[in-house]
Amino acid sequence: MYLGLDLGTSSLKALLIDDSQRILGSASAPLTVERLHPGWSEQDPDSWIAATRAALAELAKFHAAELAKVRGIGLSGHMHGATTIDRAGKVIRPCILWNDTRSFKEAAELDADPQFRRLTGNIVFPGFTAPKLKWMAANEPEAFARVAKVLLPKDYLRLWLTGEAISEMSDSAGTSWLDVGKRAWDDGLLSATGLDRSQMPALVEGTERAGSLRADVAAELGLPTGIPIAGGAGDNAASACGMGTVGDNHAFASLGTSGVLFAANNRYLPNPDSAVHAFCHALPGTWHQMGVILSATDSLNWLSGVTSTQPAVLTSELGETLEAPGSVLFLPYLSGERTPHNDASIRGAFAGLGHESDRVALTRAVVEGVSFAFRDSLAALAQAGTSLTRVTAIGGGSRSRYWLEALATVLNLPVDIPEGGDFGAAFGAARLGLIAAEHADPLSVCTQPATESTILPNRDLAPAFDEAYGRYRSLYPALKGAMS
Ligand code: XUL
Repeated sequence: MYLGLDLGTSSLKALLIDDSQRILGSASAPLTVERLHPGWSEQDPDSWIAATRAALAELAKFHAAELAKVRGIGLSGHMHGATTIDRAGKVIRPCILWNDTRSFKEAAELDADPQFRRLTGNIVFPGFTAPKLKWMAANEPEAFARVAKVLLPKDYLRLWLTGEAISEMSDSAGTSWLDVGKRAWDDGLLSATGLDRSQMPALVEGTERAGSLRADVAAELGLPTGIPIAGGAGDNAASACGMGTVGDNHAFASLGTSGVLFAANNRYLPNPDSAVHAFCHALPGTWHQMGVILSATDSLNWLSGVTSTQPAVLTSELGETLEAPGSVLFLPYLSGERTPHNDASIRGAFAGLGHESDRVALTRAVVEGVSFAFRDSLAALAQAGTSLTRVTAIGGGSRSRYWLEALATVLNLPVDIPEGGDFGAAFGAARLGLIAAEHADPLSVCTQPATESTILPNRDLAPAFDEAYGRYRSLYPALKGAMS
């Protein structure tokens, strides 16, 4: 048995697999995001521990015997969060999350220092970790002075599980402190942020052992003492391990809280000019690129909040048959945007509203607008040298057939739906746990699931979607002008 723990933005998930990678069970515990000011997004790291306890207690209700036989654990988590720890191992302040854009000024300052793009292969986005520490240094100097370690969210869980401060390459690539080509911390980048190597965790590959489960935590969770915890991965690379997106020409579109168009690469292919992310993959000697949309299903969640209607009800009201876009357009920039704009201060918009625009029209515009944002990422990946020929859909939004048809048509690509199963980040993390525990060959573990069906672009509606995409593209400059 192997256990995957995925620390998501809205919930923590624990998933159990057996030796032949069959899913035996899973359980989740909800998490909340605090938004104290516009553009801020924080979580209490201790809520991650409470959620892990709750999810494992739930799993133990039906699978206590299997949990007692777990041989390895893998970790996955939302990326880029700054979890700051003092000398005593105590959390200094709430974790500043991946979709927090308060440090846009500090990000621009670091990004203007040429060593950052040269060594990290990425724009220093405000959501990345380094600018958050620079923001702390300027705005919370006493807290900054106490920082003994900066940990990524899932690595804080590891600290609790093992007592050790260790990270791995895929998540660390999103800090702006890693030399992504060399897969090593860079002293120059750290010192430009007022930090040094002693404040960083040790580094391993995602498939390697990174600590052993402590006796007291093992006893509490009903797991064996001393079992290995794999390095694991940032949630996108972990999903890729779950989906078998581990070699050239493999790609997925994740309709989660964030939207991610992810392509695996056998080589390191940075292209910061197109606002594409180029990170280490979780498997040794491999990398990946991705376009990142900050509010994908989060846009639908927002609409759900303001209409007091569950997201699944909103999408079910769209019916089964794809329709041509109407007059209403939606730009999903609720938290600003990364790919392709790198713009922390832009905000979302509805345009083209009429008296006839009802809730269904707004939902359609949200689904279409997020799909158009994916098309922007597709273009950015092409600019970075990666042309996709098909994608596999994952994430909560992929439960909507309507959304997948819109996405296939907007991207003009076949969208594969994997056969029943839960091949997301928790499954990928469990696979990494298996690899680390058994010294298994990563490629023979991280295979692709069978395809249940493929959604093809709707040729009849493609011209109407192309026209609407043109209108969508023209709105960003206008919106930017209106906001500055
Ligand atoms: C990736 C990113 C998000 C988070 C969300 O760069 O910021 O996809 O990892 O979980």
